[in-house]
Amino acid sequence: MMGRMHPGDTVGTFSSPVIRSARLVLRPYGPGDEALALEVVVSGEPEALPPGAPAEPGPLGEWLRADDRRSWRDGGALHFMMLDSGRNKIVGSIGAFHPDWEVRSTELGYGVRSDERGQGFASEALAAVSRWLLTDGGLQRAWLTANTDNLASVRVAEKAGFQREGTLRRAGLEDDGLHDQAVFSLLDDELDRG
Ligand SMILES: CC(C)(COP(=O)(O)OP(=O)(O)OC[C@H]1O[C@@H](n2cnc3c(N)ncnc32)[C@H](O)[C@@H]1OP(=O)(O)O)[C@@H](O)C(=O)NCCC(=O)NCCS
Repeated sequence: MMGRMHPGDTVGTFSSPVIRSARLVLRPYGPGDEALALEVVVSGEPEALPPGAPAEPGPLGEWLRADDRRSWRDGGALHFMMLDSGRNKIVGSIGAFHPDWEVRSTELGYGVRSDERGQGFASEALAAVSRWLLTDGGLQRAWLTANTDNLASVRVAEKAGFQREGTLRRAGLEDDGLHDQAVFSLLDDELDRG
């Protein structure tokens, strides 16, 4: 296993990644974030928190105390808030899921609260988190799927520099039925080094 990258090898960057972009701070949710997360829940936008986050205020504290980092090391997820640093407001979330530490690849997913869409936040977050994953994060491939009829999500992937690889036919199930999914990826050697 010589030369194999493992997140435990880079404790400094992996234990608490804080990623900054033009308008956003992207960092994992933690125990000190109850007020920020509560604002998202009471504003009726719980889907802007990561999958599995409570939709009610009560269990928020317990959810925030869970240790994402252990989950990430073990092939789980690492969820980042999209924090608008100017307003100190969570505008959405972006997560990396199911890392494969042999291939050094991970899947990504994202969501922006409905009252903050159309301002470029998802594209900005995806570009920044992907760059971190493909550099300090030790990965060589970041990928995602978007339903082919989710034009906003397809556009976000394109704007963040992802390449479309193909279509998984009827691979996604939503409340309204089955959807084709487009697969996108970004490789470390495709990062804009400018
Ligand atoms: C997809 C989503 C994350 C986009 O967030 P966002 O912050 O609004 O995205 P951005 O502002 O960075 O970019 C959106 C792009 O889609 C475009 N767009 C939005 N709705 C569109 C539509 N109906 N048709 C075509 N393009 C559309 C916007 O014009 C923009 O592109 P542009 O900058 O070239 O004009 C957000 O709509 C969302 O949370 N949706 C629900 C959850 C979801 O679908 N997540 C993705 C799962 S793969």
